[in-house]
Amino acid sequence: MDMEHFFSVDQLNIDTIYALCEQAKQCKKQEIRISDQIFAGNVFTEPSTRTKLSFTIAQKRLGLDVLEVDGAQSSIVKGESLEDTVITLEAIGANMLIVRDGSNKWMEELQDKVSIPMINAGAGTAEHPTQCMLDVFTLYEEFGGFAGLQVVIAGDVKHSRVAHSNIRTLQRLGAKVYTSCAESFVDENLQVPNISMDEAVKMADCLMLLRIQHERHGGEDTETNNYLREFGLTIAREQQMKEHSIIMHPGPVNRGVEIDGSLIYGKRSRIKQQIQNGVYMRMSIMIYMLKKWGIIHESIINERTVFEQ
Ligand code: CP
Repeated sequence: MDMEHFFSVDQLNIDTIYALCEQAKQCKKQEIRISDQIFAGNVFTEPSTRTKLSFTIAQKRLGLDVLEVDGAQSSIVKGESLEDTVITLEAIGANMLIVRDGSNKWMEELQDKVSIPMINAGAGTAEHPTQCMLDVFTLYEEFGGFAGLQVVIAGDVKHSRVAHSNIRTLQRLGAKVYTSCAESFVDENLQVPNISMDEAVKMADCLMLLRIQHERHGGEDTETNNYLREFGLTIAREQQMKEHSIIMHPGPVNRGVEIDGSLIYGKRSRIKQQIQNGVYMRMSIMIYMLKKWGIIHESIINERTVFEQ
């Protein structure tokens, strides 16, 4: 994807996906700093905790200068468009932009508006490629590969950008992917078998849970009182999982809805690893993009081993 923005994991071929995972591993083992002055602008018009802050930490670890644009504290509140915001960031001197917005369309609307790389940090219900890549990295560390791996993605699949990015990518990597959710959360466009949670816990190597995304239900109230008992991961169901099986969740979690609160940081949970890996994968993706766009070269990347594995 020479001189393309990073909007979708579909842009990455399989070799590049593995190369980004290997580079993320290096970022975990070594201090990697870029010696030139590079400004990274983070434009988030939707709320975020882990994506925004892990990009910020990743940028600081790489030695980048960070420009934070918080939708609620910027001229977006005065009616400035996302387009004018990113054009302004480029004019001010940003060398790269990280963008999150609630629209599914912002990527096509902005793609020709700036001449610096943009990275998608979440687009409506459509795509969340950096979350997908940190999930792939976490599974790669855990299982060493994807062939035949049984992954069940459970929860509000229809409204989840994470599900949409992850299903296609895990299938491309050779995993067998299923969904498990209430009928109203099935996405008919996905052509993935939808199984019950009772089936899911028995066969999944990885059970990837998702939050019910009330904010994307168009004002319709979604009844979640019985969701845990009917469709969620209860303690009784967790006990049916295979010895080696793991639980993942992109966060934020709705405790007691898609998962019993006591399981969130239990022994099967890899939720903290996902959050930690988000920093290293985002470092890896930013290095990749800055190199692709010719903004940095190998000679200005300094590496120092911080620990041996
Ligand atoms: N997983 C994720 O995107 O979390 P945030 O909304 O907190 O960034």
